[in-house]
Amino acid sequence: MANQDDIFKNLVSHAKEYGFVFPSSEIYDGLSAVYDYAQYGVELKKNIRDYWWKSMVQFHENIVGIDAAIFMHPTTWKASGHIDAFNDPLIDNKDSKKRYRADVLVEDYLAKIEGKISKEVEKASKRFGEAFNEEQFRATNPRVLENQQKMDEVRKRFFTALEKGNLEEVRQVIIDCEIACPISGTRNWTEVRQFNLMFSTSMGSVSEDANTIYLRPETAQGIFVNYLNVQKTGRMKIPFGIAQTGKAFRNEIVARQFIFRMREFEQMEMQYFVRPGTEMEWYKYWKEARMKWHLSLGMPSSKYRFHDHDKLAHYANAAADIEFDFPFGFKELEGIHSRTDFDLTAHQNHSGKKLQYFDPELNESYVPYVVETSIGLDRMFLAVLSHAYHEEKLEDGSERVVLRIPPMLAPVKAAILPLVAKDGLPEKGREIMERLKCDYMCQYEEKDSIGRRYRRQDAIGTPYCITIDHQTTQDNTVTIRERDTMEQHRVAIDELHAIIGSRLKPIL
Ligand code: GAP
Repeated sequence: MANQDDIFKNLVSHAKEYGFVFPSSEIYDGLSAVYDYAQYGVELKKNIRDYWWKSMVQFHENIVGIDAAIFMHPTTWKASGHIDAFNDPLIDNKDSKKRYRADVLVEDYLAKIEGKISKEVEKASKRFGEAFNEEQFRATNPRVLENQQKMDEVRKRFFTALEKGNLEEVRQVIIDCEIACPISGTRNWTEVRQFNLMFSTSMGSVSEDANTIYLRPETAQGIFVNYLNVQKTGRMKIPFGIAQTGKAFRNEIVARQFIFRMREFEQMEMQYFVRPGTEMEWYKYWKEARMKWHLSLGMPSSKYRFHDHDKLAHYANAAADIEFDFPFGFKELEGIHSRTDFDLTAHQNHSGKKLQYFDPELNESYVPYVVETSIGLDRMFLAVLSHAYHEEKLEDGSERVVLRIPPMLAPVKAAILPLVAKDGLPEKGREIMERLKCDYMCQYEEKDSIGRRYRRQDAIGTPYCITIDHQTTQDNTVTIRERDTMEQHRVAIDELHAIIGSRLKPIL
């Protein structure tokens, strides 16, 4: 059986071969951690974005959307803290000349120790069989305890050093843990330096004294600087939200795992402005609401978990991630953060403009608190695609690759397939296409055997294949084949629209 690494590799190849994701500018050998969405990928991405927008904006009367520019006044990033603190600690190996993120080196080291613990647990579980009590074993086995203690100590030392900006100590942890460069195998490390993740460019010509401006590293700041405009023009009453989807840019040093960590990516963010003191109530509400959104797509709850942050960013008083079980393990998919009044107050101080709300119920003005939900669209795309990807052996011994994409997100909803390209069947097919294509993305195909056409549709995740045969010309019925079960039913052409529509709804 293929392991998770192989399956992930196959998934990446499949995404390219079937027109979902291409490496950017591939004819020039690509650009690291930048990808293009292809003909089916762009549909899937759009469907995820549309469903998010619908759930946030259309389903909530007190949430409105905006589309702010990617370029923003440079002071925005001073106020938000990104110029001073949006850094990664980097270290170079002098022999291989490779650059690493210090925290990733340490995380990988910790993961190795964690792996040793898991092996001990696995061995003991086999030895003791049903009588095995994992909790007790972890609490008493000397080797597990020793490794656990080592992990806790390294973690504490490393993150304290990082938080205090003590880069010498950060390096010393790497030396003391005897972490070697994966390429050269040596421990010949440089100093650790902080590296800002924002991309910069200049606006205006050189002679006009060009200004350095930044490509936004998050969409959120476009919402904060527009808070007052939206509140006033929309006559919004607290609590209310502003939603936005759009590109963000980060000069990620360790860019890996396909579209999981990219240098140009898309975020879907919503800032919810609330009365100070009520933020924890809303934080809990949005944590729950966002998890419900994920589950409404029909992917199992075992694929998701919350990770509550112990260490909080300086502006937050609560934060959690929704993690997804990607082929390379549970990783952050979405963040829910209670950001207090940090951002609005910072923009108020830097701009000199009041960013307050007059609360008629309290008869007082205040800077609202903010609860934010922030999800990466590309990560959600990867979550959907990786869960959908199945290599199957069928009863007749043949094999198929099928994408079990939730039907409401599938790039193509129905394929219209005349059995043969003659005897009036193509005309019937075209007639059906005309009836369905206003409401559903459909594809008409008459080339190749019907079996090969089914496989091609399975491979792009089309939930329905509609086959027109000779009987169709006599009684206006067709067969409809369901992607996951491969079952086929004969139905009237008049019923097709309703049958397809009935499966394209979220599970609420
Ligand atoms: N405004 C808050 C914010 O930007 P974040 O945790 O830095 O928070 C939010 O990012 C989400 O954006 C993440 O949960 C992830 O899904 C996505 N994201 C962040 N960096 C990314 C990258 N380099 N590539 C793809 N997605 C990314």
